[in-house]
Amino acid sequence: MNTVLFDRLSNVQADLLVTFVPSEGELPESSAWIDANSDGQLTSLRESGVFKGSLAQTLLLPSVSADFSQAVLLVGVGKSTQLSDMQARKVVAAVASQIKSLPYATVAVASAVLGTKNRSAGETIALVAQWLNEGFYNFLGFKQDDAEKVSKVDTLMIEGSDEAALAIGVATAAGSAFTRQLGNLPGNVCTPNYLASKAQMLGEEYGVEVELLDETKMDELGMHCMLSVGRGSDQPSYLIVMHYRGGAENEAPHVLLGKGITFDTGGISLKPGPKMDEMKYDMCGAASVFGTMKAICELKPKLNFTAVIAAAENMPSARATKPGDIVKTMSGKTVEILNTDAEGRLVLCDALTYIERFKPQSVVDIATLTGACVVALGGVNSGMYANDEAVASELKAASQIAADKIWQMPLDEEYQQQLDSNFADIANIGGPEAGSVTAACFLSRFTESYPWAHLDIAGTAWTGGAAKGASGRPVALLTRYLLSKTQ
Ligand code: BES
Ligand code: MN
Ligand code: ZN
Repeated sequence: MNTVLFDRLSNVQADLLVTFVPSEGELPESSAWIDANSDGQLTSLRESGVFKGSLAQTLLLPSVSADFSQAVLLVGVGKSTQLSDMQARKVVAAVASQIKSLPYATVAVASAVLGTKNRSAGETIALVAQWLNEGFYNFLGFKQDDAEKVSKVDTLMIEGSDEAALAIGVATAAGSAFTRQLGNLPGNVCTPNYLASKAQMLGEEYGVEVELLDETKMDELGMHCMLSVGRGSDQPSYLIVMHYRGGAENEAPHVLLGKGITFDTGGISLKPGPKMDEMKYDMCGAASVFGTMKAICELKPKLNFTAVIAAAENMPSARATKPGDIVKTMSGKTVEILNTDAEGRLVLCDALTYIERFKPQSVVDIATLTGACVVALGGVNSGMYANDEAVASELKAASQIAADKIWQMPLDEEYQQQLDSNFADIANIGGPEAGSVTAACFLSRFTESYPWAHLDIAGTAWTGGAAKGASGRPVALLTRYLLSKTQ
């Protein structure tokens, strides 16, 4: 599907025009124009209560009047004159869900009216383009009726003139679709080896340089903590590295590191059965790094960006790591693994040490790290921790522009003592209190040589229940964060 811009609805030829109707007050320009060309149909639909214009309500008018050949989709925007991000997103999702199943090939959306408080026209275009495109995502490949789900829409037209903003929105949606697809794949398909093959695919498609470190190589490097996680699995672990080089040769890279546990059973500290299937999503941090790499490769900004994925499967077996086992990290610090289900930090800590060799300008890790973060922040905000206030505030600014929320959490040194161990340098769990904080504290022990932030996306990477599926977060945030580094 192609996404392009148009200036006014009256200048457009499309099979379907999408226009917005508030529940009270004047019609916006595009709707007023259709109203004037259809003997006041929109006004009478609203006055009669047939179409009230309530938020995200839709009504398809296949033929508005004899001299108006284009079909019209009316979409309600409620009574407030300025929508919140949440309301705008709901409206855009309603548009996408209607048009993706209709038989029209070209669709023009008079979206300027969706501009929200504090947002520039460019930000609105990027968000509308992103959200509309995201609405077309389907998880394909595993159901017999897949072919019926393919949309007929081939050209989507959005109101506005900012081509650069449009490109960001479209690339972000492509990245988030990539992320969601990887996330939604089952654990028997999406293995560490599969993630490695996806890196090679990106390498071939976009010319990014790919390095794969297998278990032998990681053993040589002393990454025993990382290797302890995959020990119970028949699937070999990988450290996957991708280099996007758009900046000057001597410019230090920004690094994103993703937790790529392709299935988390908990290991010997086995998880309970209910909802364990959702632990196929334990590679969503890695998936968001892949999706961001895709978006950046599409946009080709001038910066150097290195993506690192720590990929392993956490299984119980006779060979698996046991509670109480002590392993040595690449940094030299030893870890007492008191709970094999706190495995994310074990793969990340060695990757964080490995990253030192890139002398990075900044490092952000992204991980479905703790159930405690879900308890603290739910599905609204990702938890953000940082050892550097500049990185923290840049992430907050990117988060605001991307409408991809984060909330900064504390890293006070008082929490660190919860990780004391009688037998090793550090314990891998910090007890029942402040579980998301102590997980971040564990990581902070390995990030002393560079500016670093950690995003705990355990609550935001996917939704459970009837609408179970990967969200694509925080690709929008990470893409905006990296783009902010080009100015
Ligand atoms: N992948 C999980 C975290 C998780 C759990 C994310 C549920 C989303 C929903 C992680 O590896 C884990 O198991 N963490 C433990 C840590 C504990 C043993 C200290 C947790 O959160 O229970
Ligand atoms: Mn776990
Ligand atoms: Zn996990």
